[in-house]
Amino acid sequence: MDSTRFQRAAEILRAAQRIAVLTGAGISAESGVPTFRGEDGLWRQFRAEDLATPEAFARDPKTVWEWYDWRRGIIGKVNPNPGHMVLAQWEKKLSGFKLITQNVDGLHARAGSTKILELHGNIWKTRCTKEETVAENLEVPLKQIPPACPACGALLRPHIVWFGESLDPDILRRAIGASSLCDVMLVVGTSAFVQPAASLPLRASAAGAKIIEINPDPTPLTHYADVSLHGKAGEILPRIDQILSLPS
Ligand code: OAD
Repeated sequence: MDSTRFQRAAEILRAAQRIAVLTGAGISAESGVPTFRGEDGLWRQFRAEDLATPEAFARDPKTVWEWYDWRRGIIGKVNPNPGHMVLAQWEKKLSGFKLITQNVDGLHARAGSTKILELHGNIWKTRCTKEETVAENLEVPLKQIPPACPACGALLRPHIVWFGESLDPDILRRAIGASSLCDVMLVVGTSAFVQPAASLPLRASAAGAKIIEINPDPTPLTHYADVSLHGKAGEILPRIDQILSLPS
C-alpha cells in the first residue's frame, strides 16, 4: 500500500492531543476469534434472534449459554495479536488516549490496555437475572449450564448487550464524550453496522476530528475517513507504530 497513507496517519496521530479508538471484531480476527459479518462470520452460521436477544434467553437459556460456552472455549485458547499490543502501548505513550471497543472477548485487557470502554459487555462476566450482580467467570467449559448465581441461586446471564437492549448509560456517555472531544478517531475492524457504536466516528467527524480507518474492506464509514488503510489491523497498527517511533 501507498506509504504516504501511513505517513499521513502517523502525522495525524502525532499532532493529536486527544485520540479515541473504536475497535470491532476485526481486530481480534488475526487472533482466531470469528467476526460476525465476514465470510465465516457468526451471523452467517447462527441466527442472532435465537442466541443474542433477551427473548431467546427467556425461551431457552440453556441453548444460549451453550453457544456462549462454545465461544468462550474458542476465545480462551487464543492470544492478543500485535494490533491489540500496539493499542495497549499507545495508552501508555500517547496523550488523551481513549479505547472504546465493541468486542466482548477481553483481548484488549489481556494485551495490557487498562482503560477500556466495553460498549457491548464482556463474555467473561456473568450477571444475576435477579440481583443484577456482575461477576467475573473464567470457567471453560462452564461446570453448570445454565449457571446459577452463587449468592441467590437465580439464573445467571452473560454480561453482554443483546439486540434490542440498551447500552450501559454511563459507558455510552463516556464513549460519546471521548468521541466528541477527540482530535482524531481511529476506527479499527468494524463493519460499522451496529448502533450506537457506528455513529461514534460520525459524531467525532462532525465535531472536527480526523478519522483514520483500518479495515481490509470498505465500510459505511470509509467515505468519512481522512485516511483509509486497507488491510489487517495486526499488520497496519505495528507499521504506524514503527513510523511514530515513540520513546519507550
Ligand atoms: P463485524 O463482524 O460486523 O465486522 C468486522 C469487520 O472487521 C469487517 O468490516 C471486516 O472487514 C473487518 N476485518 C476482518 N478482518 C480484519 C483484520 N484482520 N483487521 C482489521 N479489520 C478486519 O464486527 P463488528 O463491527 O465488531 O455485538 O460488529 C459489531 C457488533 O455486532 C458486535 O459487537 C457484536 C455483533 O452483533 C455483540 O457482541 C453484542
